[in-house]
Amino acid sequence: TTTITPLIAGNWKMNGLRGSLEELTTLAGMLTTGEAPRALVVICPPATILAAVARQGASAGILAGGQDCHAVASGAHTGDVSASMLADAGAQYVIVGHSERRANHGETDDQVRAKAEAAIGSGLKPIICVGETEAQRDGGTADSVVAAQLAASIPDAAELHQVIIAYEPIWAIGTGRTPSNDDIAQMHNSIRRQLVDRFGDKGASIHILYGGSLKPQNAREILQIENVNGGLVGGASLLAKDFYTIISAV
Ligand code: G3P
Repeated sequence: TTTITPLIAGNWKMNGLRGSLEELTTLAGMLTTGEAPRALVVICPPATILAAVARQGASAGILAGGQDCHAVASGAHTGDVSASMLADAGAQYVIVGHSERRANHGETDDQVRAKAEAAIGSGLKPIICVGETEAQRDGGTADSVVAAQLAASIPDAAELHQVIIAYEPIWAIGTGRTPSNDDIAQMHNSIRRQLVDRFGDKGASIHILYGGSLKPQNAREILQIENVNGGLVGGASLLAKDFYTIISAV
């Protein structure tokens, strides 16, 4: 089996004024004084402070990522940010297809795939999000829904470039509820099978992150599940102490 260095990413969502950079300073202090983290650490802040996060996090090994990008490189797209701009600001990653983007901005799998391609084209690693709604989980279609999202959202370029998958059951986001460990294992195993079917050996080395109410109290057990190669953390990434506890749990 391939060894994958775990990756813990914090998605600050639309939280994070300049004052939040103090949390980053605290986190950087924790990461440099304690035992060296076993995980890659990524923070995806709002675009307004991305450059500051990239700059301030660098010495502690904290990597920066965007939360979304446009599918084209530049042009008349008021209010949007392109992948090359994120890269220019110091990002190495970008989240694409988060369920909040899919729901609130009507993003389709095709658009998500185009964004992932744009990210790769700018040298960023896309964190491609998938996940089922509660009704789909209850209706027994979670597997097929996620499989369809994966098939259509991951670009073929993933064969040659690094992409990351984040499985985030929508009903677990910000709710304090999580799937059972068995359900997480089953979903991550089936995502792995699909990646290997499509990309061969390369598919065996793609990170599959779990996201949805990951917190200090459940991080250890969830992060040790087979084919869970790290986490995408929302709420609990906003406090350095909580996020550090999650990073230390791998
Ligand atoms: O992208 C991470 C996110 O959707 C999970 O949020 O607050 O449940 O950890 P939260």
